[in-house]
Amino acid sequence: MTNPSLLILPGDGIGQEVMAEVRKVIDWIGAKRGVTFDVSEDLVGGAAYDKHGVPLADETMAKAQEVDAVLLGAVGGPQYDDLDFSVKPERGLLRLRKEMDLFANLRPAQCFDALADFSSLKKNIVSGLDIMIVRELTSGVYFGEPRGISEVDGQRVGVNTQRYTEEEIERGARAAFELAMKRDKRLCSMEKANVMESGILWRDVVTEVSKDYPEVELSHMYADNGAMQLVRAPKQFDVIYTDNLFGDILSDCAAMLTGSLGMLPSASLGAPMENGLPKAMYEPVHGSAPDIAGEGKANPCACILSFAMALRYSFDMGEEADRLEAAVEKVLADGVRTGDLLNEEGVKPVSTSEMGDAVIAALDASL
Ligand code: IPM
Ligand code: MG
Repeated sequence: MTNPSLLILPGDGIGQEVMAEVRKVIDWIGAKRGVTFDVSEDLVGGAAYDKHGVPLADETMAKAQEVDAVLLGAVGGPQYDDLDFSVKPERGLLRLRKEMDLFANLRPAQCFDALADFSSLKKNIVSGLDIMIVRELTSGVYFGEPRGISEVDGQRVGVNTQRYTEEEIERGARAAFELAMKRDKRLCSMEKANVMESGILWRDVVTEVSKDYPEVELSHMYADNGAMQLVRAPKQFDVIYTDNLFGDILSDCAAMLTGSLGMLPSASLGAPMENGLPKAMYEPVHGSAPDIAGEGKANPCACILSFAMALRYSFDMGEEADRLEAAVEKVLADGVRTGDLLNEEGVKPVSTSEMGDAVIAALDASL
């Protein structure tokens, strides 16, 4: 049997630092659990631009297509703000999503007990929160044509197009229903069918797909109401299925409910490969945080938990994923905190690498 393969793309800012902590976990699994990963590493985002003049080199794209899974840190930074749109760091990320056809973006928003006080909402509203946003990731207004800025009647006009085919809506919906089946069997679909034709089609197709999942309770909500409900009573939701742009916004909102962006992982899944497992890329929800990059202050947990999702969805190692998630939870329960998780007085923050070491110690203790 060949070793499972993983392409690591640390990217920019804190991407490098948090990925170093994931490397510790990968090494630990090799040493203590007997599974060796074939790990390769490459550049994406600003780091790739600095070397190749593009945010994702063709060779890197080709590698990403070959491996079992990609793990990405973060892209972007102020030094790239003035670059031409076509070579901005974000374009590297979007190219990976599009060319790997990663249509289902899973963004769990889970409130860790030890961190319930960090939420800007009252503790009783968020404690025990566990929702999963499934965001369509390869279509909609992010990619629709026509697009661009042109001159019409003497003034500039900016155009983007919200466009969805039935098939695009359907395959994402199936991914969302499948997840709901493994959870609390409730799915809320969000669009703006009151103002957008693409929203009417969305609602129609999701309703059609629901006939194949009679056990799942389906509801529909306008996305603006969805945003309101997310901050009013987030625990009413189990799985949310929504389009690319609404999903971008709603998932940031849901992430903040949990109190720390530094804790949240994500998975972007595509169609099954030859081995039956989905094409996949994993990334923390947080960005490159240029303000603290290189200072050893970043919280590596979101990236470590993204690797846990890779263990579950790409490597068929659900038990090891559970173990890793439990280790992170234990470290938090023990009061270990990076700077982003501090609101108690007198608690001294640990560094990025100390947090990684604490997770490794908890893994050791789990054996
Ligand atoms: C995200 C990010 C990206 C997006 C950016 C970096 C292109 O905000 O993953 O949510 O808009 O999808
Ligand atoms: Mg976003």
